[in-house]
Amino acid sequence: MSRKQLNIGLFGFGCVGLGLYEVLQKSPALRANIRNICVRDKDKPRTIGAENFTFDKNDILNDESINVVVELIDDADAAFEIVSAALRKGKAVVSANKKMVAEHFTELLELQREYNVPLLYEAAACASMPIIRNLEEYYDNDLLESIEGIVNGSTNYILTKTFSENLSYADALKQAQDLGFAESNPILDTGGFDAKYKLLILLAHAFGYIATPADLFNIGIDNIGELELKYAKEKGFKIKLVAQAYKAADGSLSAFVIPKFVTPDDRLYNVDDVFNGVITKTSFADTHFFVGRGAGAYPTASAVLSDISALSYEYKYEYKKIYREEDVRLTNEAELKVLLRHRREDAELFKLHFSTVEEAYTNHDSGYITGNITLQSLKALQEKHSGEISFILINVVTETEKAAAAQVVSA
Ligand SMILES: NC(=O)c1ccc[n+]([C@@H]2O[C@H](COP(=O)([O-])OP(=O)(O)OC[C@H]3O[C@@H](n4cnc5c(N)ncnc54)[C@H](OP(=O)(O)O)[C@@H]3O)[C@@H](O)[C@H]2O)c1
Repeated sequence: MSRKQLNIGLFGFGCVGLGLYEVLQKSPALRANIRNICVRDKDKPRTIGAENFTFDKNDILNDESINVVVELIDDADAAFEIVSAALRKGKAVVSANKKMVAEHFTELLELQREYNVPLLYEAAACASMPIIRNLEEYYDNDLLESIEGIVNGSTNYILTKTFSENLSYADALKQAQDLGFAESNPILDTGGFDAKYKLLILLAHAFGYIATPADLFNIGIDNIGELELKYAKEKGFKIKLVAQAYKAADGSLSAFVIPKFVTPDDRLYNVDDVFNGVITKTSFADTHFFVGRGAGAYPTASAVLSDISALSYEYKYEYKKIYREEDVRLTNEAELKVLLRHRREDAELFKLHFSTVEEAYTNHDSGYITGNITLQSLKALQEKHSGEISFILINVVTETEKAAAAQVVSA
């Protein structure tokens, strides 16, 4: 199959845009050239000549010689305007913008169908790690049971530095930003939102389920305190921000993002710094483990490059699992064993939500409870007391454990 000539209109020339520009110079076999670059700030110094840039998106969108738009900007609303206009004009699109894809998944699906043009976004989930195309293609015939992983590079970097090198949270965040790993708005990373957007994209390709961001529960790392770090160190655990989804035999799907104590025998334990790691579990193959750099200019650009290359062979996502319309529904019934840190005076209130509770107090003003709680109750607690409490997942309670606990109660 011969390769299609690609004439690219690039939006954004920041960390990833510049990375892509450089990577493309080193990939002559790909029949792709950048025709025009649209950026926002007229006064910013650039590393290449001013003749390469425009500040008007229509210079790209209305240029009929441009057949591919690569969108690498840090503004999700503006990105959606650009991407939807490009698709309407019949241009193929590559994007790295998980917030934009997650917030407009259904509309983007419709636009691709209506205008018969592809939109690829491998870099939007786990940057350099090829997960979307694997979920989309490889697992089509092997029943996928669960996906679990570290999908946000900057929080993993922050947790690694605060945990192993005793760096303060603020210093670790600043380092992640200086290295180009963090989002322009840090709460997207530290609040677990970025991980949630990625989980939403993975759910669509893994299980054919389209969620909205509001459907999925996320807790970030910004409330993790000394007590949890101490608890983890004493027990030989690490704390990782983990996104997970698992499907039960009846089609119910649990999906959430939460910091988790990870034990040394867990493959995620050694996924440190800016790396991402995802474990997939299937009915016949058992587990697979993907690992790769989850942020940074060249690693992210490499995934964008891979999408551009795929376009040159006219690849597009077929969204087979979505169109198969299997009966998959989201549930908040999952039972989680968590450690919850709280203010001492609120202890009674929290206990109401737990089915089993073990409790301990430090000699400070806060205490902690470990116990089993449903995702629904956890959600209610977080909505009411966000900022005052922190939760860390110990493990998801399995059906076997639930049955054993029920037997003890009835005996
Ligand atoms: N950085 C990573 O490691 C990473 C990893 C995976 C995915 N991503 C995603 O990749 C995208 C880009 O991230 P980044 O880190 O490269 O961001 P960045 O360094 O902040 O650069 C953003 C670029 O977007 C341009 N821009 C913003 N609004 C614009 C508009 N309305 N029209 C035209 N240009 C506009 C900016 O223009 P000026 O240069 O004029 O300011 C800048 O060049 C984001 O969606 C991010 O989530 C990043």
